[in-house]
Amino acid sequence: MTAPHSTTGNASTKPRILTGDTPTGRLHLGHWVGSVERRVALQDSYDCYFLLANMHAFTTRFDKPGDIRADTIEIVKDWLAAGIDPDRSTIVLQTEVPAIAELTWFFAMLLSFNDVMGNPTLVHELETKGLKDSYSFGFPMYTVGQCADILAFRPELVPVGEDQAPHIEMCRKAARKFNQLYCGVSNRAEDDRHVQEGGVFPVPRALIGRIGRLPGVGDGKQKMSKSLGNAIFLSDDPKEVQKKINKITTGRQSPTEPGDPDNVLFKFVEAFITDEGRVAELKDKYRCGDNIGDGHIKQELAQAINVLLEPMRARRAKFDGPEGEAVVLDIIRKGVKKANATAEETLYLAKKAMKLDFGRRVLA
Ligand code: TRP
Repeated sequence: MTAPHSTTGNASTKPRILTGDTPTGRLHLGHWVGSVERRVALQDSYDCYFLLANMHAFTTRFDKPGDIRADTIEIVKDWLAAGIDPDRSTIVLQTEVPAIAELTWFFAMLLSFNDVMGNPTLVHELETKGLKDSYSFGFPMYTVGQCADILAFRPELVPVGEDQAPHIEMCRKAARKFNQLYCGVSNRAEDDRHVQEGGVFPVPRALIGRIGRLPGVGDGKQKMSKSLGNAIFLSDDPKEVQKKINKITTGRQSPTEPGDPDNVLFKFVEAFITDEGRVAELKDKYRCGDNIGDGHIKQELAQAINVLLEPMRARRAKFDGPEGEAVVLDIIRKGVKKANATAEETLYLAKKAMKLDFGRRVLA
C-alpha cells in the first residue's frame, strides 16, 4: 500500500476528475478559460486524469498520423506550460488504454442510435466541418468513445467547455443505464447515489468553465478556434498577442463615442483583466464615451494576457528541442501506467457486473 496521503494517480482517495483535449494543434486562450485554468487549480483537491484524445483525432484526420503525433506532443507541452503537474496528475494517452476501447463497445449498446445522431454537438460538427454526406462510420462513434474515456476513470467531475455539455449528458445516461441494468441500481436512484447503491459508475457532473465560450479575435461572432484562424495561442509571443488583440473590431469610431460594454472587446476584458475595479471603471467610461479609445483598452488587454502567458512561455521553453520531446514522451509513458491501473480496475468491475468475468487479466 502507498501512504494514505499519497497524491499519485490511483493510490489517492481524493475524488476524481477526468477531462481532456483532442490533439488538433496548440492550445489557445479559449481552452484556457473554458477548462485548462480549472484543471490547474483543481490538482490539489482532486485526483486528476487528463486525457489526450488522440484516437478522436483520427475521426477527421485519419490520413495524417504524423500530424496527430506531433499535435499530441504539443498539447502535453501546453499542459505542462500551463501548470499541469505530472507528479500530481495523471496524463492519459487514449490509444494506450485498451479498456477505453472495450468499454466503448459496451456503452454503444446502451445508447440508442438516435441518442448519438441527435447529439447537438455532433450535429453542429457535421454541419460546420463540411462533413454532411462524407463522414466516416467512426465519426459519430467518438461521442460514445467519450463516455468510455470518462467512465473508465469513474470520476465525479468533468471540467469542460460549454460545447461539451451534450457529451457529458450522454455519458451520464450511459452510466445510469449500466448501473440499472447490470448492478441492480433502482430506476429511481438519485444520480449522486448510484455508487452507494452498488453501481460501478458514478454519474459524473460537468463543470463548465469560468467563460463558457470565448469569441475569437475579429468581430466576435465565431468562437475562438484554431481552424477559424482567430485564436491566440498560449505559446504566442507578446508581439503576436498584441497584433491579434488589435484585430478585434467593435465598429466604434472614436474615444468619445458611447460604446457597448458587452461587446467582443469587453468579453476579452472580462476574461483577462483580473482587477475587477479596473474592469468596472473601463465599462463605465466606455458606456459614456468618456475619452477611452478601443486602442487603449487593447493595450491594457494585451498586457494582462501577457502577464498570464509569461510564466507559461518560460515553462514551455524547457521542453524545446529533441531533449524536451524525450522528457514529454517519458511523462506520457508514466501516465499510461497509472492510467491503465485505474482503467483496468474499472473494466474488471464492469465485466464482472456483466457476467463477463473469466479471470483477471494483467497488462504487460
Ligand atoms: N471532445 C473533447 C474536445 O474535443 C475532448 C475529449 C475527449 C474529452 N474525451 C473527453 C473531454 C473526455 C472531456 C472528457 O474538446
